[in-house]
Amino acid sequence: MTHARIGVIGLAVMGSNLARNLARHGHPVALYNRTTERTRELVAQHGDEGTFVPAETPEEFVASLERPRRLVVMVKAGAPTDAVIDQFAALLEEGDVIIDGGNAHFEDTRRREAALTERGLHFVGTGISGGEEGALNGPSIMPGGSPEAYASLAPMLEDIAAKADDGQPCVTHVGPDGAGHFVKMVHNGIEYADMQLIAEAYDLLRQAGGMRPAEIADVFSQWNTGRLRSYLVEITAEVLRHTDPETGQPFVEIVADQAEQKGTGRWTVEVALELGVPVTGIAEAVFSRSLSAHTDLRSAARDFPGPTPEPFSESAAHDLARAVEEALYASKIVAYAQGFHQVAAGSAEYGWDIDLGAVAAIWRAGCIIRADFLDDIRAAYAEDPQLATLLAAPRFAAAVEGAQRAWRLVVSLAAEHGIPAPGFSAALAYYDALRADRLPAALIQAQRDFFGAHTYRRTDRPGVFHTLWSEGRTEELMGE
Ligand code: 6PG
Repeated sequence: MTHARIGVIGLAVMGSNLARNLARHGHPVALYNRTTERTRELVAQHGDEGTFVPAETPEEFVASLERPRRLVVMVKAGAPTDAVIDQFAALLEEGDVIIDGGNAHFEDTRRREAALTERGLHFVGTGISGGEEGALNGPSIMPGGSPEAYASLAPMLEDIAAKADDGQPCVTHVGPDGAGHFVKMVHNGIEYADMQLIAEAYDLLRQAGGMRPAEIADVFSQWNTGRLRSYLVEITAEVLRHTDPETGQPFVEIVADQAEQKGTGRWTVEVALELGVPVTGIAEAVFSRSLSAHTDLRSAARDFPGPTPEPFSESAAHDLARAVEEALYASKIVAYAQGFHQVAAGSAEYGWDIDLGAVAAIWRAGCIIRADFLDDIRAAYAEDPQLATLLAAPRFAAAVEGAQRAWRLVVSLAAEHGIPAPGFSAALAYYDALRADRLPAALIQAQRDFFGAHTYRRTDRPGVFHTLWSEGRTEELMGE
């Protein structure tokens, strides 16, 4: 009997492609799918790519695995994952490893890891980014769990992970228990923010610049040769250049403009609210998707008064494109600075000791937000691991300084022409709030003390105070 080095449970496209990736790298892979036909199809279609050990029952699957057994669960997040874990954990022995490669919520991963550790099993919640293509040809892999579990997986994960330009595999042990799924969640939040900013850049060039999709595709292709070079900019050019075969229209113009979301971006914002991290760019991206889907509200607002954008002249449109590139890059720096702030906050909250530079390094290839930009982030954290915000890194501070005028011009132009640019605007507002000497939060504190006696601190001396507004006197609440 051929013993498999690792096994994959759940052979939908992601699971099948991951199994094929492992087999192609010389690792014998056990296969199990609830519908056996799926397993047979995979072996029939791709059996020549490596060694597959198909199993028709969980027992047969477990028996085919070498010790310590390593099982990758690739089923829908939530209850299906719990059901598969329960079913297979009962068949395992101390030291065996269950890897969850789905988009699980990190709190579920922490719960599962604690429960399985009690049973002497390892549980490795693992973010896998790059979609179906990535799973097959090289994803970015974000495993959590124990160091010893990671040690037993590392050689195989390094084989199948995407490789950055310097040849480094895009996988690292992110941290214990749910750290891997937490970082994957933030990856998806940043993905939302990045996609929203790109969409706003497209909309500005379309509405104010008067450009057609194919022209905007050329602009994005040009941007993709510079500091904005990235998978998302690259595919945006491809999407905008695409013509709908049925109508001959630009493809983007026949796509319904209600964005959907599976939920990982929403999770990022929910968790950020709990941690007190202002991920305003990610929040605007999530809410923009929600707003686009409220067709009832949008219909009711259709005739609301406001400016109708007048397309610019050709030369002005090209000036606009240059300004939008600056605004996009500056806003992107803000969005990533917010995302990395959330990773740092999660790491502190849960005691994960996450290496932010290592996270940036494994996002350089394979994942959806892959970009040269991530290598700049990696370098920034290498130069200063204690960086308070990416915006303070010299390379990014210089870029934002250089973009100031264009960024402000684009945000004001969007407002003047009635073009919604919540991502650009929120990024600029975040930047200005961070650098402000005094924020209007002082007034909010005073208001809260007035109506709710919620107390306030003073600028001129320590302590906590409450003003008895009706009596015109202030009391100092000692010891708080
Ligand atoms: C990835 C992607 C993936 C995500 C889908 C759908 O990293 O490969 O982020 O995990 O789930 O792209 O995401 P939304 O439906 O939330 O946009």
